[in-house]
Amino acid sequence: MRQTHNDCFLRALARKPVDRTPVWLMRQAGRYLPEYRASRERAGSFMNLCQTPELACEVTLQPLQRFRLDAAILFSDILTIPDALGLGLEFLEGEGPHFHRPLRSASDIAALGRIDPEQDLAYVMDAVRLIRRELDNRVPLIGFAGSPWTLATYMVEGGASATFARIKSLMFSDPPALQQLLSLLAATITDYLSAQQAAGAQALMLFDTWGGILTPRDYQRFSLHYMAQIVASLRTHTHTADTPVIVFTKGGGQWLEAIAATGCTGVGIDWTTDISEAFTRIGATTAIQGNMDPGVLYAPDAVIHAEVASILDAVGNRAGHIMNLGHGIQPGMRPEAIAAFVDAVHELSPARHHGPA
Ligand code: CP3
Repeated sequence: MRQTHNDCFLRALARKPVDRTPVWLMRQAGRYLPEYRASRERAGSFMNLCQTPELACEVTLQPLQRFRLDAAILFSDILTIPDALGLGLEFLEGEGPHFHRPLRSASDIAALGRIDPEQDLAYVMDAVRLIRRELDNRVPLIGFAGSPWTLATYMVEGGASATFARIKSLMFSDPPALQQLLSLLAATITDYLSAQQAAGAQALMLFDTWGGILTPRDYQRFSLHYMAQIVASLRTHTHTADTPVIVFTKGGGQWLEAIAATGCTGVGIDWTTDISEAFTRIGATTAIQGNMDPGVLYAPDAVIHAEVASILDAVGNRAGHIMNLGHGIQPGMRPEAIAAFVDAVHELSPARHHGPA
């Protein structure tokens, strides 16, 4: 296979020297882009957009046509796995995800079967193959999945939740039932990520959006434990042994050492952690991805520029930084603000990699 033309994202993940800091953004494809809204309109629904490889490919590439990004991320959703497990996913306009058959009892969990991602999520693998072909090695492609804990919260709640009443109730009253669900999800996610790698994904990311709502003990027991299983399994399979894996727990700043100890290649951090301290804590063994407060993107371009400078200053000339936000782009953000963010990284970061230490 040909070498990726722009490999600064993969080099930074490997903590190798780079000419400038690589940059991409979580949710870089999405409703803040008018061309995304047009594609989604044509698709008729978000799920149809995800399930039509030509359309998923089209929206994956849209942000790359506008901004000088160093990685593409597969356009899909973390909730494709629960959908394939039979929960019946629908995205309601303005309300977010909704499952027609949420898991409401231990017997619902016991009744779940195994899926074969190559078969049951073939549309995702088709999209990965098509995107790789269309990217033509310009930048690497990131594949992804939700963490077991984060998927379980949606599957048990039936959608988004403000209180997490149902998943917490299950966790505290019937931990073995929850652990049965998390084990099944960990095995399924491992197969799913491995299939994405086989289809062409060059790095893999685990989104643990809700790990941060747990106590340290329960984070270890119900979230990190299963992510560590996934990383370890990917490391033992020959074809994924060398594939970089990024683990992102939103709100996980106090657990960086434990996350790095999973053996992952990179750790995603949100904006509530000081990135300089993060490097001191885990930068010797692990790359770090982040961590601008996405809220800065509501501010004028000069403020965005200054915030990028402040993050780059905090990192200094240490290897292994991938610039990103601390969470995803929101629909109301201006595309020009994203350009200001990306351009500031291009303008300001080369000096950190060449200049005096
Ligand atoms: O980052 C990218 O550009 C790749 C695509 C991607 C999407 N979702 C597209 C999407 C990725 C990596 C995700 C991950 C995802 N999905 C997460 C983890 C990351 C995070 O944000 O914490 C979560 C929790 C989900 C679940 C999900 N999907 C929710 C709660 C929602 C509704 C909220 C919303 O923004 O409407 C979605 C829908 C979704 N996934 C959209 C996009 C572009 C918006 C759907 C639309 O077009 O209406």
